Amino acid sequence: MSLDGKMMELRAMREQALMGGGQKRVDQQHAKGKYTARERIDLLLDEGSFQELGMFVTQHNPGEQSIFGDGVVTGYGTIDGRLVYVFSQDFTVFGGSLGEAHAEKIVRLQDMALKNGAPIIGLNDSGGARIQEGVISLGGYADIFLRNTLASGVIPQISSIMGPCAGGAVYSPALTDFTVMVKDTSYMFVTGPDVVRAVTHEDVSFETLGGAMLHNTASGVAHFACNSEEEAVNSIRVLLSFLPQNNAEDPPRRAVTDSPLRAETELDTIVPDNPNKPYDMKQVIKLIVDDGDFFQVQEHFAPNIIIGFARMNGRPIGIVAQQPMALAGVLDIDASVKAARFVRFCDCFNVPLLTLEDVPGFLPGVGQEHSGIIRHGAKLLYAYCEATVPKITVITRKAYGGAYCVMNSKHVRGDLNFAWPTAEIAVMGSDGAVNVIARDEIAKSADPEATRAKLVAEYREKYANPYIAAARGYVDDVIEPRLTRARVISGFEMLQNKRDSLPPKKHGNIPL
Ligand code: HXC
Repeated sequence: MSLDGKMMELRAMREQALMGGGQKRVDQQHAKGKYTARERIDLLLDEGSFQELGMFVTQHNPGEQSIFGDGVVTGYGTIDGRLVYVFSQDFTVFGGSLGEAHAEKIVRLQDMALKNGAPIIGLNDSGGARIQEGVISLGGYADIFLRNTLASGVIPQISSIMGPCAGGAVYSPALTDFTVMVKDTSYMFVTGPDVVRAVTHEDVSFETLGGAMLHNTASGVAHFACNSEEEAVNSIRVLLSFLPQNNAEDPPRRAVTDSPLRAETELDTIVPDNPNKPYDMKQVIKLIVDDGDFFQVQEHFAPNIIIGFARMNGRPIGIVAQQPMALAGVLDIDASVKAARFVRFCDCFNVPLLTLEDVPGFLPGVGQEHSGIIRHGAKLLYAYCEATVPKITVITRKAYGGAYCVMNSKHVRGDLNFAWPTAEIAVMGSDGAVNVIARDEIAKSADPEATRAKLVAEYREKYANPYIAAARGYVDDVIEPRLTRARVISGFEMLQNKRDSLPPKKHGNIPL
């Protein structure tokens, strides 16, 4: 064949590969409101930056149908000029199901990402293990899970769910750091509605079993619920802007125009006089961080605790904050697990942590106790104790009981602990405390209600303030709320070369 002929052949093969499962299936994909695997990569990456690897890989079984790429597009490119690796499953080819060759392509990419220290993004749209390939596809999944685990804490791993993902197709995302879902078109379940019906006789829809909002509200499996695929890939781009390429780097600093000394008088009055009245902690966050720009994670799950990323004087930080507007900001099982995972993520990737605390305590109740609030609450405690990144706490109001200890107190290696004058730091709230320590006195008094009210007022006056903790050095300073931004920025700058470590060990044993 002449050189020209060879070039023609290459181009024709390339054309064929780019068609995936063929025009009919591409049209079906579009009709469902979904993009194809390659269209998604183009949306995600900087224009023209994608370099595909393994385009001509086909499945290895003679006799079976072969399609170039074997149902997954793999390669590398850039996001905001920074290297990322990406694989994108092609639902038009065998339903994006994972066979041997498909798995090998992902594994190769994972190895490359780990070796070269750059994030890996998976765009998942897959029916799970390819049924025709049997145990070989199960092995392929296990190979991927192993690499997900080895890469955990070394490079950021992000999963986007962009179709019906079943079986193994959900366990790899579960091992990664963040999972993005698209409303109405993406689903995650270990076994689909048909199997559920056969086994448990429950009649359940795709949406109810594993839709985007289900996993963003009830299960906590996903971190973002997006209205479209465009929004999903954009949230990945924004998320990466806060993260380093790998665990040996610091997160990227950005030029900033927002003054580090900006004072916010609105903060002085944001905490209501009545300790039982809520206020919006998200407003506090927005007033403190650069340009009011807060990128919230798991917005819909356990809303009593807020987690997310922002910048302070151009430097990315992670924020953990109680939300008094949801369940009074109490720490329950879901809030503890949500925040624990986030604290550990930030610690893996050198993202300093700011904790904004207004917590009445752990949630009492039979349901919580029986479901293991002790074990789950301990996760958050463990995560804060273990974290060695710069850690600053600001107690805005309540810091009661075990929750005081947990929320990055000085005792668990908080580097700088500030309190607002409105802070109440004590073993428990005034009402509860008086009921315990003055029960007999109240019962015996002529007017129990008046006595209780007097004792509660006395307790509040005596204990519910920041100055006992400040006298002990448990808080480093009581600060005017309006100066919070300036003090926190100064603190993080002071801590920027912090070095701290854990005793040598294989790994700890977090109470899972
Ligand atoms: C081979 C598959 C497949 C699979 C889908 N297809 N899933 N081929 N192996 N796992 C094929 C279909 O046969 C079909 O081919 C094409 O992909 C599109 O699928 P449809 O069913 O037409 O699409 P849709 O109606 O949108 O339903 C999508 C789906 C459904 C919900 C994903 O296909 C489904 O339930 N698939 C099986 C899911 C599953 O149970 N996977 C195994 C999980 S076990 P044609 O040629 O007809 O168009 C697993 C083990 C690993 O993953 C566990 C590790 C822990």
